[in-house]
Amino acid sequence: TDFGTPAIQSDKQVTLTIDGREVTVPEGTTVMRAASEAGGSIPKLCATDNLKQFGSCRLCLVEIEGARGTPASCTTPAAEGMVVKTQTPRLDKLRKGVMELYISDHPLDCLTCSANNDCELQDQAAAVGLRDVRYGYEGANHLAEPTDHSNPYFDFDPSKCIVCSRCVRACDEVQGTFALTVDGRGFASEISAGQSGDNFLSSECVSCGACVQACPTATLQEKSVKEIGKPERSVDTTCAYCGVGCT
Ligand code: FES
Repeated sequence: TDFGTPAIQSDKQVTLTIDGREVTVPEGTTVMRAASEAGGSIPKLCATDNLKQFGSCRLCLVEIEGARGTPASCTTPAAEGMVVKTQTPRLDKLRKGVMELYISDHPLDCLTCSANNDCELQDQAAAVGLRDVRYGYEGANHLAEPTDHSNPYFDFDPSKCIVCSRCVRACDEVQGTFALTVDGRGFASEISAGQSGDNFLSSECVSCGACVQACPTATLQEKSVKEIGKPERSVDTTCAYCGVGCT
């Protein structure tokens, strides 16, 4: 099971209700993980089972009785007596709106992309039911720097980056190298390899591959995967926002 955020050890337990189902989890567990333990699944892009929560993608919003707004489930701790809804028309609309912005800033080359059918952005676009993008497809990523081929093992294509920061956190938390950072803000934000711009080879990177494993898109990808391709995988969805409609 994909729990979305790391497990918490605690002697104290809390019981909450998620989509009508009661679930008891160790105190400090996130609402996202509790929802998963209750058998549900909340859309997400920046959260993973092994990295500290970051709360940047805003896809995992939920409704909590008595709470203001729609908090991110990956950064909200479960509390005793909490009543959570993860699927409502309002949440559907919010998540679709967030996904529209991501796709408006992402190349639409799924069919020829080396991550086709193994891309979390593609999966989550399908999960939220995205069918159309009102803002066009000409976001800032079309002006991104060219692919950095300098590392002997993997490539870095900034045009496909959604700045979820999973690579930065993997570099820091898994490897302790601190070679990557996020530069800039908003649409202009980008992943940078330390002081060396986008050149991985001349950065502090030790080629451990933690960033490549953490990347949800084809931004960071092993050269061998790009050359040989991944084994084919069967999926029961199509690229939700693509008009081709292949299966
Ligand atoms: Fe919660 Fe990204 S998964 S904000």
